[in-house]
Amino acid sequence: LRCKEAKPIVFVLGGPGSGKGTQCDRIVRDFGFLHLSSGDLLREEVKKGTELGRECEQLMKDGKLVPVQITLNLIKKAMEESKTTANGYLVDGFPRAIDQAELFEEKVGRPRLVIFLECPKGEMEKRLLKRGETSGRSDDNMTTILKRFDTFQRESLPVVQFYNHLQQNLVIKVSSVPPPDEVYKQIYCAILSFRGGMDGDTKCAR
Ligand code: AP5
Repeated sequence: LRCKEAKPIVFVLGGPGSGKGTQCDRIVRDFGFLHLSSGDLLREEVKKGTELGRECEQLMKDGKLVPVQITLNLIKKAMEESKTTANGYLVDGFPRAIDQAELFEEKVGRPRLVIFLECPKGEMEKRLLKRGETSGRSDDNMTTILKRFDTFQRESLPVVQFYNHLQQNLVIKVSSVPPPDEVYKQIYCAILSFRGGMDGDTKCAR
């Protein structure tokens, strides 16, 4: 297996509102990985009013994907900048199209684990509408939420298949319907097992 990046890379994938950010907070707390959310990186660019931010703003409001080179460069740059301090990289919301997965494989390497959070549409919709009351996110409204679901279905779901075919046991599917700490138990165990920690068995009983 070719891997140009020596530190472990974990991808967290799932539909809009499936709980990617919520679970990443817990992973960072316990494993000290650097959290790289493609959505957060893009929102920072929009906030700073950079040319790149202006290019992405409308696409995000429309629930569409921004061009692959933009997200890939943002993630690669953030990885470079933290090379000496991070234990590993937790990439949230990327890749969400086949071309992104292929380019990452070519330019950076293969993730050690792909966590896919499974959640029914109705539950995700409920969560996003509730968050929209306070988040101030321009894409947390019913019209954009429906477009985000459509993009997820057409472009992002095939990425899970891509990794399933690429390598056995690379993907773990976790239902993100239970409360966040319940969901996290499975994720915690999966990360411990790839790290080869023999103390994983006892810790997994937590
Ligand atoms: P992004 O910011 O990644 O948005 P998203 O994928 O739609 O996901 P969210 O951040 O909305 O939700 P989440 O899964 O993190 O859930 P959270 O933990 O917040 O992307 C935004 C846009 O940027 C995209 O639409 C696209 O335009 C662009 N973009 C981003 N990445 C890109 C890429 N790679 N390529 C191209 N374009 C890209 O939870 C949601 C709510 O639910 C919270 O209120 C939380 O408290 C609650 N909650 C979480 N878990 C649970 C639980 N288990 N039970 C009950 N409530 C829960």
